[in-house]
Amino acid sequence: MNPDPRPSRKHAPPPPGPLPYARQFIDESDIAAVIAALHADFLTQGPTVGAFEEALCRATGARHAVAVSSGSAALHLLAIALGVGPGQVGVTSPITFAATANCFLHAGGGVALADVDPRTGLMTPGHLEAALDTLEARGVPPGLVIAVSLTGRVADLEGLARVCGRRGWTLVEDAAHSLGGLGRAADGTSFRSGSCRHTRAAILSFHPVKHICTGEGGAVLTNDADLAGRIRRLRSHGIDKPSPDRLPPGEGPWFQDQVELGFNYRLTDIQAALGLSQLRRLDAFLERRRTLARRYLERLDRPGLRDIFALPPPDEGSAWHLFVVHFADAALRRRAVEFLADRGIRTQVHYIPVYRHTFYKKRFGETTLPGAEAWYRGCLSLPLFPAMRDQDLERVADALEAFVRTCRL
Ligand SMILES: Cc1ncc(COP(=O)(O)O)c(C=O)c1O
Repeated sequence: MNPDPRPSRKHAPPPPGPLPYARQFIDESDIAAVIAALHADFLTQGPTVGAFEEALCRATGARHAVAVSSGSAALHLLAIALGVGPGQVGVTSPITFAATANCFLHAGGGVALADVDPRTGLMTPGHLEAALDTLEARGVPPGLVIAVSLTGRVADLEGLARVCGRRGWTLVEDAAHSLGGLGRAADGTSFRSGSCRHTRAAILSFHPVKHICTGEGGAVLTNDADLAGRIRRLRSHGIDKPSPDRLPPGEGPWFQDQVELGFNYRLTDIQAALGLSQLRRLDAFLERRRTLARRYLERLDRPGLRDIFALPPPDEGSAWHLFVVHFADAALRRRAVEFLADRGIRTQVHYIPVYRHTFYKKRFGETTLPGAEAWYRGCLSLPLFPAMRDQDLERVADALEAFVRTCRL
């Protein structure tokens, strides 16, 4: 394992131009792994996908991993496999990437949004209870809940699972932000995000801004062998290929049977080779993210700054996908974005609440949830990625201090 994931001159030079808010970290070992995959027999799904899936199980503690073409594909397949369809309404939170909510609609169901804690952006058991009360009062039958472990902070999956269990709903974790993150159970023990200790399944994304990347890519994680088998079949058109001892009479090794309507959501061996190589450096990536987050917390915890923006609440288990500060209001956030951009520092907003998007407004009408609005009003993701250098972070902190000085004029 490479103990220091920061860029050397030979590997992953800092990107020219503005400092991005997030970025992949590709080094020579990743490039060599992809070249080796190009020399191998399989370009599409082959043995390297299997090896990547085994490595994902080791990294998360889940018993089964099914690699697919994106995190969105993972969500879509899970929604289908867990029975979302017409007459069903699924629940997630509005502070997420739209794909989390879209999957219910792709599967033919409806979607309801539970509010979030404005300090963390997470759906809590209380918010879930309130959303389920409303749905059940409308006669909606129990269905699927997707909890998002936002910014790398693992949701209270144990508490959410208790609510779901009591009311007959099924809980899944969207762990696109939280590979390597640790959740805390009520007895003080911790569990790994994606381990499915408290959930029926979880999904990951390997988009370049995430903890490891494969270009595009994702995975479904579960401890349920039947569910994993169904997802494997759905990712490849719904086709079954029975083992030689289960062949129907008269059929040969060519035999395959499409038993349901599936998709081509396969990951390629080329992508899996990159994913496997990246996964070897996951611990180092996480360590670097945690070091940078600690340094931000030290540098930015100053009286003058605290009047202008709030820092993320402490969480030792966070996988620090994002470092989100909260400005006192939207106008201040906007000025800060422009001030930082003028100094070559890019930031981003995670997220505009799902219900504010035109598609959702047209389909479901106007909605407003107070926790989601309070989160969205002032949130700003500062640059944070493993290849970021110490001096990059100091530049961001200096620029924020300079911005705060302009606020006092
Ligand atoms: C919380 C969350 N869920 C799902 C996804 C979808 O993943 P992908 O981009 O791999 O389709 C993303 C990606 O940005 C995400 O951030």
